[in-house]
Amino acid sequence: MARKLLLTHIDVPGIQTFDVYRQHGGYRAVEKALKTMSPDDVVEEVKKSGLRGRGGAGFPTGMKWSFLAKPEGVPRYLVCNGDESEPGTFKDRYLMTHIPHALLEGMIVSSYALGAKTSYIYVRGEMMPQIRILERAIEEAKAAGFLGKNILGSGYDLEIYVQPGAGAYICGEETALLESLEGKRGNPRIKPPFPAIAGLYGCPTVVNNVESIAATVPIINDGGEEYAKIGIERSTGTKLISASGNLVKPGVYEIDLGLSVEEFIYSDEYCGGIANGKRLKAVVPGGSSVPILPTNLILKTANGNNRLMTYESLADGGFQTGSSMGSGGFIAFDEDQCIVRNTWNFSRFYHHESCGQCSPCREGTGWMEKVLHKIEMGHGNLSDIELLWDIQRRIEGNTICPLGDAAAWPVAAAIRHFRDEFEWHINHPEDALTRNFGLAHY
Ligand code: NAI
Ligand code: SF4
Repeated sequence: MARKLLLTHIDVPGIQTFDVYRQHGGYRAVEKALKTMSPDDVVEEVKKSGLRGRGGAGFPTGMKWSFLAKPEGVPRYLVCNGDESEPGTFKDRYLMTHIPHALLEGMIVSSYALGAKTSYIYVRGEMMPQIRILERAIEEAKAAGFLGKNILGSGYDLEIYVQPGAGAYICGEETALLESLEGKRGNPRIKPPFPAIAGLYGCPTVVNNVESIAATVPIINDGGEEYAKIGIERSTGTKLISASGNLVKPGVYEIDLGLSVEEFIYSDEYCGGIANGKRLKAVVPGGSSVPILPTNLILKTANGNNRLMTYESLADGGFQTGSSMGSGGFIAFDEDQCIVRNTWNFSRFYHHESCGQCSPCREGTGWMEKVLHKIEMGHGNLSDIELLWDIQRRIEGNTICPLGDAAAWPVAAAIRHFRDEFEWHINHPEDALTRNFGLAHY
């Protein structure tokens, strides 16, 4: 049986409500933290746990918390990033929908640790049902004395507000999110300063992903050291994976970090293999922003070791032969899927979502989309592959925020690992709209 720390009791009828969540041990972490621990004790447990940011960057959460500036008389904020928009990623929505109180409980514990008295949950605007669910959960928690003034008689006051976004992917980037929360256009800011020094309204702010915040609940309940026993190396604990594409059982899974990719794809406990008896062609393991890997490299590293679901193993080999855990958006492609078409699709997305502040991203994403469309539609020539390579190279590392890199990496990886498929498209223009793009062509 797969271990569940975040999705415990997910199948219990009514677990969305305060009463049922409480009957199943909910809000114990708040009681423990506020009654028996100082804020610094809570930070220390999170540090011991080795928890790394679950939004995509994998930055150590305890370390981020300890960077928070604490100038006298200046408010501090916790902002939960629930603007989940990465193509292939839907685990935060799942958590907010089914166990909203797990997020709220984590918000209270984390806000207490950081000394925040006002905290925000910024939720993607399209997720209206989740926004209503969270607002109802906040009302319930408040009525039960877990929010508001003098929580559980501890002297600690906290208000949590849910703020809907307006559908821009870029508002998931933390500084764009803060701009949006301040009522402005969601343009990313140049970092540093990091939000920990100058965030919301210029005040010290921690921005954490939904899953990271929810993970503080088992960490406080069981202790950071217990949490750190799960997983391998610097990949501790459990991780929610959004599995999609040509899988027998797509969905959201909670895994122990360290599970092999092969077991995740093929075992009945998880994805159950490739749908319709097809062969696996490639996987994007961490959401659309991370490099695609062909079957041989997603199952084994370049050294022949089993590829594991960890930050280290998925990145093994750098971007030459590895990829990244990213946000855990695991997209599987079977032998019939077209890598060129998929890359064009991703490029279209990034072009549409670019905020336009930096020329390499604003212009480059548009160029890549056009060139990929040309190849896909049977009008490409071989020099277009070099052109694509050149454009992505000029975007990477030359922009204000990671959206530029996120647009460049999938293109680079597709060319690196599937150049022959690009060439096949160019050499068979007559087939542009009718062909089957799968392995059969090699
Ligand atoms: P980042 O590496 O710049 O920062 C990670 C976190 O650590 C941030 O909160 C940052 O403020 C903090 N940090 C880093 N260095 C710091 C320092 N010296 N002092 C204080 N704080 C510091 O990455 P970022 O931009 O937060 O995230 C990029 C990732 O987001 C990508 O890898 C991508 O996978 C993921 N992503 C996820 C999406 C989703 O829907 N879940 C959407 C788009 C991207
Ligand atoms: Fe905007 Fe793209 Fe620059 Fe990010 S990289 S700030 S999305 S133009």
